[in-house]
Amino acid sequence: MTPPCPSPLVRDEIERLPTYNAGLAAARFEAIYGVPLRAKLDSNENPLGPSPDAISAALAAVKGIGRYPDASGMTLRVALAYRLGASADRVILGNGSEDLIGVIYRTVLRPGDHVVTVCPSFGLHEFAAQACGARVTKVPFTPDWRFPVAGIAAAMAEGARVLIISSPSNPAGPAISPDDFATLVAATPAGTLIVFDEAYVEYLDESMRFDALAVLSASGRPWISLRTFSKAFGLAGARVGYGLAHDPQLVAAMSKVRNPFAVNLVAEAAATAALEDAKHLARGVELAQSERRRLSRALAGMGFACAPSQTNFLFFDCSRPATEIAEALRRQGVLIKAWMEPPFTNHARVTLGQPTENDLFLDAMSSAARDITKR
Ligand SMILES: Cc1ncc(COP(=O)(O)O)c(C=O)c1O
Repeated sequence: MTPPCPSPLVRDEIERLPTYNAGLAAARFEAIYGVPLRAKLDSNENPLGPSPDAISAALAAVKGIGRYPDASGMTLRVALAYRLGASADRVILGNGSEDLIGVIYRTVLRPGDHVVTVCPSFGLHEFAAQACGARVTKVPFTPDWRFPVAGIAAAMAEGARVLIISSPSNPAGPAISPDDFATLVAATPAGTLIVFDEAYVEYLDESMRFDALAVLSASGRPWISLRTFSKAFGLAGARVGYGLAHDPQLVAAMSKVRNPFAVNLVAEAAATAALEDAKHLARGVELAQSERRRLSRALAGMGFACAPSQTNFLFFDCSRPATEIAEALRRQGVLIKAWMEPPFTNHARVTLGQPTENDLFLDAMSSAARDITKR
């Protein structure tokens, strides 16, 4: 629970916000629990880390930190634009894609505006909108974890400034189907900005991929897709995310709002090099894809049903408050995330790590399950 904020200076909407439930860094974990962190599986990081080329580029760039970075981030924007088949003036960089979520909202939201998303959802999709004084409607996924297209359309029909969804979706893991996506885009009112958060896009199975950006472009509606170097590229600590917008005007407006030096020069160099190393990217993606098949079967075998995942994590039903399970695992040095968003407080999210870390997780889960059954 967030304690009430004592200062009358603070805006009401900020006072009402919960504190963001960020993952726990290893040093903090060990200080709190007094045991070594054996498997850090709470923040959807890539267990292989970044490409060695990204590390070399970062080390080389460190020599230049006496100067400000290029505020336009043009080297990386051009590299991204080339890959996306777009012009660089439609690409914007952020200090992680979470930074860009806030920038989008501060650019377009007026107090009282309506934002529509799904439930469960990535917390900042909701909280960063509320911080701008917006009202957020969260439409529940269907019981079989499909995107609730009809419910979202109904919520938007009363007027919405922004529709924001992640696909593949955090925390649940499913990806939207091409048909559902086309229906959703067609149902979006002309004045609603579609924010399509693709933080986990690289992890999609081949059979689930489709050209969502082409669907958005053909729609004639305003949109921005968000992606990140924090997940499949293994650069979570560098803090680099990017957006591709439907037109340069939205990027120009957002550029007035964002911190001009949001991406530091070491991070930009690392991300630019990481983009080039397709083999490293593929290794991390293949690992996550095979481990998600293995772990979802193993968890189901223990009675913990998982939502279908197209990401580097699994979301599973603990049939009891997930904090109990997460706490039992922490005592064994295994860190996962108990979900705190009602009505999903019986669910936990585990990031797919190295096979040895995942085995530690499975062992800890089976002993936690045994202990709980005995009580
Ligand atoms: C759906 C989604 N969007 C955005 C982010 C933010 O990522 P970053 O700020 O590290 O780029 C995350 C991080 O977990 C996420 O899950």
